[in-house]
Amino acid sequence: MQKLEMIYEGKAKKVYKTDDPKLYIVDYKDDATAFNGQKKGQIAGKGVVNNTMTNIVFKKIEERGVPTHLVEQLSERETLVKAVKIIPLEVIIRNVAAGSFSKRYGVPEGQPLAKTVLEFSYKNDDLGDPLINDDHILALELATPEELELVRKYAYTVNDVLKEFFLERGLKLIDFKIEFGIADGQVLLADEISPDTCRLWDVETNEKMDKDRFRRDLGNVEETYLEVFRRVQE
Ligand code: TMP
Ligand code: ASP
Repeated sequence: MQKLEMIYEGKAKKVYKTDDPKLYIVDYKDDATAFNGQKKGQIAGKGVVNNTMTNIVFKKIEERGVPTHLVEQLSERETLVKAVKIIPLEVIIRNVAAGSFSKRYGVPEGQPLAKTVLEFSYKNDDLGDPLINDDHILALELATPEELELVRKYAYTVNDVLKEFFLERGLKLIDFKIEFGIADGQVLLADEISPDTCRLWDVETNEKMDKDRFRRDLGNVEETYLEVFRRVQE
């Protein structure tokens, strides 16, 4: 399968057309950004880690009945995927307080939550990806009620799969962000699942094993991505 015209370049990935209009090729970059692109950098090898890890994890998720856009990994940095129209929502699941949740509600990072939290952000860089609720989503017609219900159901299943998968590898899943797309009327898990999009803390030491090392200048960024990669391949 050949890469044709590039149709989209995001902060961490490029997307190309192929000679099949139903298939795209995603190409993962080493570029890293934070705070809506205000902080920019590179994490050497990140594209390889995030591409391969996404493939491994999406396969596990598929096995548990959540359809994904994945077709096949083509190379270290490239994956063939079904062409989807992305639903412009960041679907975030939180198992433990951290990040913007801790900041917004004034609770310490690491505080257990009495309930798993599902929240949505409206994917819109100009607006800074604002928090959005179900009524807002339906009022703005970002998704239909049926799509929204599936997105919620799939998100909780993804959480169950990921929590177990990471725990077996000595990592606590604090929170994560996923995205969904539509192809042929079907809701599919799309985008990526990687240390860029999950908070993972070492079960023994509580050390941060994710993109917070880059966001917060904690050091050992590349080493940490490689360590997560090593554990994920076990
Ligand atoms: P937050 O606490 O900053 O809202 O982040 C929640 C989760 O979403 C965390 O695992 C990191 C992930 N995330 C992304 O994947 N992309 C983003 O642009 C942001 C802000 C967070
Ligand atoms: N990728 C996001 C950005 O640049 C933020 C993040 O992951 O923290 O804006």
